[in-house]
Amino acid sequence: MDNSIRSLFEFGLDELAKRNGMKWSKYGRDVIPMWVADSDFGVAKEIKDSIIEAVRGEDLHYDDSSSLCEMIADKIRRINRIPVNGEDVLVTQGVIPPMWLACRYAFDRRGGDEAVMTDPMYYPFFTATETAGVKKMFWPLMEEDGYRFDIEALKEAITPMTRLMFVCNPHNPTGRVMTREELSAVADLAVDHDLVVMSDELWEDIVFDDKEHVSIASLNSDISERTLTVWGFSKSYNIAGLQIGYAATTNKEMLKELKRLSNGIFRETTTLSKTAAKTILSGKVDYYLKAELEYLRETREYAVKRLREIEGVKPNVPEGTYLLFPRVSRYKMKSNAIVKFLLEDAKVSVIDGSEFGSNGEGHVRINVGTSLNVLEEAFNRIQKSLNKQLH
Ligand SMILES: Cc1ncc(COP(=O)(O)O)c(C=O)c1O
Repeated sequence: MDNSIRSLFEFGLDELAKRNGMKWSKYGRDVIPMWVADSDFGVAKEIKDSIIEAVRGEDLHYDDSSSLCEMIADKIRRINRIPVNGEDVLVTQGVIPPMWLACRYAFDRRGGDEAVMTDPMYYPFFTATETAGVKKMFWPLMEEDGYRFDIEALKEAITPMTRLMFVCNPHNPTGRVMTREELSAVADLAVDHDLVVMSDELWEDIVFDDKEHVSIASLNSDISERTLTVWGFSKSYNIAGLQIGYAATTNKEMLKELKRLSNGIFRETTTLSKTAAKTILSGKVDYYLKAELEYLRETREYAVKRLREIEGVKPNVPEGTYLLFPRVSRYKMKSNAIVKFLLEDAKVSVIDGSEFGSNGEGHVRINVGTSLNVLEEAFNRIQKSLNKQLH
């Protein structure tokens, strides 16, 4: 990777500590933040320039998204292999609002409805389900099983009251990238049980080794007709603050209903975010994603190596995402106590694994989407602090 591109990913700790944004401010400037899934990488020049140009050109009025939706549909057909058109796309304010919308669509409010999701799972899925007043049914993913998506376990979690299945692929927090076989089995069950599926594919670009991201809705028309798939740009291009995502389905009736339910509540997103999306979809910043993946391979390898060197810590090797979910064993300390201890003693913030479900207990989630020199300092601090708990 040439040095000018590498400099997009390498920042000093002092420089990062001055950044705006909740990641670096929440716990104080002396804390290395490895909690929220927001990277520290720079934003591609082409994206920034296009936003500045949009401001200069007064692109700050109510707008029409149809040309952006056409570009998105083209990407979905080419990359995700789902046959949608511009009118089958919704521009959204990131990936979280469509979780809520999927709940509104799937549940009939006569009471007793259930949604099925993995344990562990990215916790906003829990929040969306709770807000809808619906029961969460958990599909356990087991660490000792390599977080395999076990279909027999999924069958046990589905009941006659299940209406909605949440899929998160690539999976936060385990970093699993679902195989075509796993997805086919999930799709067949969804069809057999007449479930609505919401598939969160926000991390689709960040996959490693020989892993391939497959969209569940690309498998066949039976599954695509009951699936709402959602993507975004926040992880791949490090523009979480622009809050832009998009959702699509081949099911025209579903889309019509989603538009009806969200009318007056969802207002897409800003013109500036849409400008950034167009720049990305034009292919001008493909070089950035390629370089970022190369850099993330290094950070993943370095983080796993450092965690393996700490007694009582067992890291996973994520197949996708820049999140690690190691098991950390210290006497009888629960993971929330370990997180508190690391914050106070090491001045490093990570997330308590139990927030992702009961199977996350004993784990912490660590964001390694940062510069290698920051990782070195963070793991030095973590190692020193955790070693104190051994002696
Ligand atoms: C799986 C998953 N879905 C959704 C989100 C939220 O994304 P956004 O902020 O783009 O809505 C995240 C953020 O970490 C995530 O990991």
